[in-house]
Amino acid sequence: MTNRFSAILSVVFITLLYVTCNNSTSNNKTTNTKAMEFIDNLMKKMTLEEKIGQLNQLTSRWEMTGPASADADDQKQLEMLKNGQVGSMLNVCGVAETTEAQKLVMENTRLKIPMLFAYDVIHGYKTMFPVPLAESCAWDAEISETAARIAAEEAAASGLHWTFGPMMDLSRDARWGRVMESCGEDPYLASILSVAKTKGFQANDLNAVNTIAACAKHYAAYGFVESGRDYNTVDIGTYTLHNVVLPPFKASAKAGIASFMNSFNIIDGTPSTASTFLQRDLLKGKWAFEGLVISDWGSILEIVSHGAAKDLKEASKKAITAGSDIDMESFAYVEHLKNLVEEGEIDIKLIDDAVRRVLTLKYKLGLFDNPYKYSDIQREKEIVYSTANQEAARMVACNSMVLLKNKDEVLPISKKIKSIAVIGPLADDKDAPLGSWRAKAVEGSAVSLLEGLKNALPNTIINYAKGCDLAIGERGFVKETFINESDISGFKDAVDAAKKSDIIVLALGEDCWQTGEGRSQANIELRGVQMQLFNELRKLDKKVVVVLMNGRPLAIPKIAEQADAILESWFGGSQAGNAIADILLGDFNPSGKLSMSFPYEVGQCPVYYNHMSTGRGNKPDNNNVFWSQYIDAPHIALYPFGYGLSYTKFEYGKAHINNTVFSENEEIKLSVNIKNTGKYEGKEIVQLYIHDLHSEYTRPVKELKAFKKISLKPDENKTVEFTLTSSDLAYYYPSGEYVVEPGMFEVLIGSSSVDLQILPFELKMGSVLTLD
Ligand code: NOJ
Repeated sequence: MTNRFSAILSVVFITLLYVTCNNSTSNNKTTNTKAMEFIDNLMKKMTLEEKIGQLNQLTSRWEMTGPASADADDQKQLEMLKNGQVGSMLNVCGVAETTEAQKLVMENTRLKIPMLFAYDVIHGYKTMFPVPLAESCAWDAEISETAARIAAEEAAASGLHWTFGPMMDLSRDARWGRVMESCGEDPYLASILSVAKTKGFQANDLNAVNTIAACAKHYAAYGFVESGRDYNTVDIGTYTLHNVVLPPFKASAKAGIASFMNSFNIIDGTPSTASTFLQRDLLKGKWAFEGLVISDWGSILEIVSHGAAKDLKEASKKAITAGSDIDMESFAYVEHLKNLVEEGEIDIKLIDDAVRRVLTLKYKLGLFDNPYKYSDIQREKEIVYSTANQEAARMVACNSMVLLKNKDEVLPISKKIKSIAVIGPLADDKDAPLGSWRAKAVEGSAVSLLEGLKNALPNTIINYAKGCDLAIGERGFVKETFINESDISGFKDAVDAAKKSDIIVLALGEDCWQTGEGRSQANIELRGVQMQLFNELRKLDKKVVVVLMNGRPLAIPKIAEQADAILESWFGGSQAGNAIADILLGDFNPSGKLSMSFPYEVGQCPVYYNHMSTGRGNKPDNNNVFWSQYIDAPHIALYPFGYGLSYTKFEYGKAHINNTVFSENEEIKLSVNIKNTGKYEGKEIVQLYIHDLHSEYTRPVKELKAFKKISLKPDENKTVEFTLTSSDLAYYYPSGEYVVEPGMFEVLIGSSSVDLQILPFELKMGSVLTLD
């Protein structure tokens, strides 16, 4: 298994190397000059209407990923395409569709400027990888890059140029349906993985036929919607904005991401789409971002709903002035920009700047040389959903799953086992593992858990019973309802199946359409009669292995207490069932660690490890109630950030630091020896956190600053070394200044955010150092 996976990684990286080596700096400069000349010439020929057309993006009418616009009219859309009033489209994919749409523009418009085709390729195109929250639990940049690379290859082979991903919204509240699209709750981990995905999509060469432009979204703070309710208001200060929300965006901008998408929410009272501070000052100003910014679906129109503009015209003015270059589905720019320029309300320079950004992306993608470059029916057939891509999906899924409990080493299950009961509403579900935001995945195409176990154990008796329903009514982008939440008629078959078997594997969780956009939940417990089913099976004298399938942390304290083992398999993608079987049967030793904390109760949300120090954070010695606690629930996570088990055991030696006092130029070197004292070869993710004890502004109780994934055979040990510099101790003041302060710190090293050794040290400097 391990060899097969390394072979997959090597093939991907040889391709990457090829692409990167062909992209020298001098070539870049020549391309840039040529591009600028080409675009200047083209822009000289463009009328104001043609320029505005480049800033307009429309969806195809056959696939909608947002509410239908008032202007949704097929005939009108056709006319707009032919008149050069559309610069890009979303939700048009596949060689046949993209070619047809491109032809409309190339054969009818005056200047024949090719369109861009964009799509939400979030965790795969047709081959589904685990949902992003799952994938982030691999804590592995190579894995994230590989998954994005393959998604890009499939998408590019299907005529697409641009994905609306990666999503890099920090996610602390499990009620928010979109946590499944995120990398979890930590800005450092999210930055590393967002950059890796950006590299995977773009491979440093947008001109290559197998890459697509990436998009950093949603800029910014969309993950902080109050009470986890999607599209709700956001109220955070600039301190949190700079230190927690922006780091992945800034890192991706630095890594050359081609585009940004702004967010639906307000920031300090201003809708992000109209925020000059975010887009013009910070992104395009301080960060010198040269790519383009697209609005989110209808978000220019929503400036009016937010009450920040009296009508669409004023909203258009605000959006273009603030730096939103493309209007997705508000029909705002095509309706109003011309008048605004002619009335002297906005400077044509704003439009020129936005158009230049759009044309530059088209140029970089090579569309002016060949508008149909990505639409190649042969490549589409060969690449999309290939066997190699399925293998890669299985490898990524294995690495993404997290073993939460393994009492008395009930896992792995011996392959010699005579019989297994496979039970649960998700046990033979071939659709839920594909997750939400599943692009072109074919409905019901995932390998189910039941199939995975049958594939792996042809000689074992497998007794399957569904037990109960997830009780979801309609699925998809329409509001589903919870129905039949009390139907226990399937329990008898489940109990019979369990009685006949040596062990019970019980698949519980949520439907994939309970997560994703517009899918916030106030209740994050297992819905319906799933807990009752678990209780019935617990009554039998059998080991119960719970396999969870879900797109958000769930509140499962009883399962945590009473199951013998728990494998968090998330929504594992096309190969989910095979990957789960790989883990349950010990062909793959689980190594994932949570990127988002699990609460005991929904009332704790948001619960996250890197919270601020508070005035009353610790339990007082005399047990009084005056501290930051709940009187009816724990205040800590059930399963914290960074937590995850292995089939083997890793013993940490005493961690070492090279000094206790450092100056600003000295390196802080840390090391710790880790030994595999168990029976299996395995991977461990060694984590390093920092705690700044006293500073001008309150700092988090701990913050992840580094991690390393190592592989150890039984009895093998390795010393893991980390080097920090004073800049790793920096943080942002609310003003946006990036500073390092002298003072006392702790470095914490260990296997999760709560299992850590503490090493104190002092940073001695004359004064505060400003870095940025
Ligand atoms: C709205 C979502 O917020 C965004 O993430 C997505 O890219 C667009 N719709 C397009 O589907």
